[in-house]
Amino acid sequence: MKRSLFIYLVGLLIVSQGINAQHEHPKSEHYMAPKDDKVVAKLEEWQDLKFGIIIHWGLYAVPGIIESWSICSEDWIERDSTISYNDYKEWYFGLKDKFNPVKFNPQQWAEASKAAGMKYLVFTTKHHDGFCLWDTKQTDYSIAHSPFGSNEKSDALKYVLDAYRNQGFMVGTYFSKPDWYSEYYWWPKYATPNRNNNYDANKYPWRWNQFKQYTYNQIQELMTGYGDVDLLWLDGGWVRPLETVNDEVRAWGAPIPSWSQDIDMPSIAKMARKNQPGLLIVDRTVGGLYENYQTPEQSIPEQALDHPWESCITLGGAWGYVPTDSYKSTSQVIRTLVEVVAKGGSLLLGVGPTPEGEFTPEQIESLKKIGKWMDKNGEAIYATRALSVCQSNNVFFTQSKDNKTCYAIACYDENSELEKTITWTGNVPKKGSAMKLISNGKRLKYKVEGETVTVSLPSDMNELPLGKALAFKYKK
Ligand code: GLC
Repeated sequence: MKRSLFIYLVGLLIVSQGINAQHEHPKSEHYMAPKDDKVVAKLEEWQDLKFGIIIHWGLYAVPGIIESWSICSEDWIERDSTISYNDYKEWYFGLKDKFNPVKFNPQQWAEASKAAGMKYLVFTTKHHDGFCLWDTKQTDYSIAHSPFGSNEKSDALKYVLDAYRNQGFMVGTYFSKPDWYSEYYWWPKYATPNRNNNYDANKYPWRWNQFKQYTYNQIQELMTGYGDVDLLWLDGGWVRPLETVNDEVRAWGAPIPSWSQDIDMPSIAKMARKNQPGLLIVDRTVGGLYENYQTPEQSIPEQALDHPWESCITLGGAWGYVPTDSYKSTSQVIRTLVEVVAKGGSLLLGVGPTPEGEFTPEQIESLKKIGKWMDKNGEAIYATRALSVCQSNNVFFTQSKDNKTCYAIACYDENSELEKTITWTGNVPKKGSAMKLISNGKRLKYKVEGETVTVSLPSDMNELPLGKALAFKYKK
């Protein structure tokens, strides 16, 4: 009892220290556009959605600690020094027998996500700890073999994807390529000093091949047993062919093995797309044909990117459920979304359900508030494209896909007061164009001096709306 409390506190410590850059994926340097027509079409469709949810749910929700990473032995990870590493791993892996989400309510998740204005889902089918949220036939390390196994919804993935598809979402499966439970990745014969597989794959090709087959079979289950899937989001960018290891990968600071962690993406992708035509594959940071869009993490690129991209950012401080976590304000989320979209990307916001299987009232409230702003101002976000000038101070710009309408969105901090005029430089309206406040459709007075536009707000408007952002629309 005492011991698990301590472990729990250690986990919180890791989270409260914030996300460590060593386990954050940067944006990849190179982008290769897909060639398959169906993939190209889906990518275009996905680029219209702009706002999605990534749900991290797994064993780590039980003690409420950082997702998976506490069982990795790299030196940036804090752990109680009086507990041996092996005892810690044993305790963590044993959480399988405590995972019992009796209130599992994916419909509640999907409704709350829809209320936020989100349009696509990425769900952790398996994180680095190897625990599977579907009834996989490849291992017993899954929800189907947890205390929840006797529940009619124990094949959780099916219910999650159904709930989201019912709300009209595009759905995606997050899948961790590294698997720290699999004996083919972390061979129990040896110590597990870091995130990589802990044996030389050149010396033990049989074992690595087992791992490849295991990975292939699991992805095949996901692509064949759970209806239409739009996206396969592959995490753990260090699992990659040796020849793709570049300076960018070295800059993560994690140890790089001398062998290749090649899982044969071409054959996985071929199988996956045979079953799910047009499937988007996001082999994060690896580049090439199977990274259909780029995924900077917990950050927004300085400049607009030329290629399809998405920032994944947590609503709180952690990806999974941490009881003491505090959530970003509505205005922070709106500003992040607006900036990402103005720079041509999409925002994938991370929310972690409780170990019982629900979103908390606080998470739901937070999503609802975001949705209130999106409900009124979504026109400036969905199905827009970036402009060459995407920002002027706190004003961000987007445009309709036909390039005819321009949107300017002024974002403020939580404590800002309304100013009576809003000024920006660049993206001036076409001569004679009306300027409208999107939230109520009212026409506003404005003037243009050179490249500077000044909009006057109506005199009866006294405060900034929830979300602290005002969106304007005009012809360009
Ligand atoms: C990073 C983290 C991983 C998390 C992912 C989500 O890769 O290491 O734990 O699941 O980001 O984007």
